[in-house]
Amino acid sequence: MKAIVVTDRAAGTAGMTLAERPDPDAAWLASLEGASYGDVIVEVHASGFTGDELEWPSTWIDRLGHDRRPSIPGHEVAGVVTALGYGTTGLSVGQRVFGLTDWTRDGTLAEYTVVEARNLAPLPGDVDFTVGAGVAMTGLTAWQGLFDHGCLRPGQTVLVHGAAGAVGSMAVQLAREAGAHVIGTGRAASRQTALDFGAQDFLDLENDSLEDVGGVDLVFDVLGGDVQKRSVGLVRAGGTLVTVTGPAEARPSEGRTVDFVVVSDRAQLGEIAQRVRDGRVRTNIGTIAALDDAVAAFNPTERVKGKTIIRVRP
Ligand SMILES: NC(=O)c1ccc[n+]([C@@H]2O[C@H](COP(=O)([O-])OP(=O)(O)OC[C@H]3O[C@@H](n4cnc5c(N)ncnc54)[C@H](OP(=O)(O)O)[C@@H]3O)[C@@H](O)[C@H]2O)c1
Repeated sequence: MKAIVVTDRAAGTAGMTLAERPDPDAAWLASLEGASYGDVIVEVHASGFTGDELEWPSTWIDRLGHDRRPSIPGHEVAGVVTALGYGTTGLSVGQRVFGLTDWTRDGTLAEYTVVEARNLAPLPGDVDFTVGAGVAMTGLTAWQGLFDHGCLRPGQTVLVHGAAGAVGSMAVQLAREAGAHVIGTGRAASRQTALDFGAQDFLDLENDSLEDVGGVDLVFDVLGGDVQKRSVGLVRAGGTLVTVTGPAEARPSEGRTVDFVVVSDRAQLGEIAQRVRDGRVRTNIGTIAALDDAVAAFNPTERVKGKTIIRVRP
């Protein structure tokens, strides 16, 4: 099969190459010898990749810490199940699915990927594969940050950093729908995009003072660093700062900080798919490219807004 592979950690996305890799072995998967209980093979139709994935240690090592190069990046997928491993439940061959694949295994920038069935949810027939791939990571991250970790309730105020970005724009939409007051942040040029996604106020991090926001119940942080440190002072007593940028560096004096890594969740994927179908959330896709053009798409000459989705099959 064709796949994007990486071997040089220091090279970043410039080190991506299109290569030939072995197809997943369906017979081995279905046998008791494969020890891949619960896995399915997915014929990838659309794949997504997170900008700093090549910096994650999991891109380079397996669960035992062994070097797993050449690795296939991309962990967001929408496609069709073509084979079931032993012990698989809940899915069938020919089913349209979407979800996230394991960080420490080969990913989805390929014609096929192997993933645990429990990490996939049915993708409704009227949701395009590119849309499914575009909402899997962003939707789950926003959902878990706002509701599982941030415990957001109607009437609360949430500050969403990077509100025009892939994850931030999803957090803005889900928080609004949940009845929260949403303040987005970002660069000046992102103001209109953040408002279009539903933010009621916008703070320009380059020119406005973050401290002017006043008190909020929840900060949803996708930026980290100095912005995260300055944000803790905005969190009201009993509130939370949730971050997806790695181990938290700061904590509100009378609140909590939660750092987390998104996990795939079939029920939450179903909630997100339902919202896509009825128009309550929309994707933030900037570029759609073919697998043959993926290396160029991930190394653009100009900054591209929104997610880049690779349409592996037309
Ligand atoms: N822990 C997890 O489970 C998890 C899951 C998903 C994503 N993430 C992480 O979340 C982060 C965001 O991902 P994403 O896909 O949403 O990225 P993205 O689409 O690039 O969004 C980031 C947004 O923040 C803005 N921004 C960046 N730096 C800024 C700055 N200094 N001042 C003001 N605005 C700034 C960007 O604006 P410009 O476009 O103008 O730069 C963009 O609108 C990444 O670090 C990613 O690895 C973590």
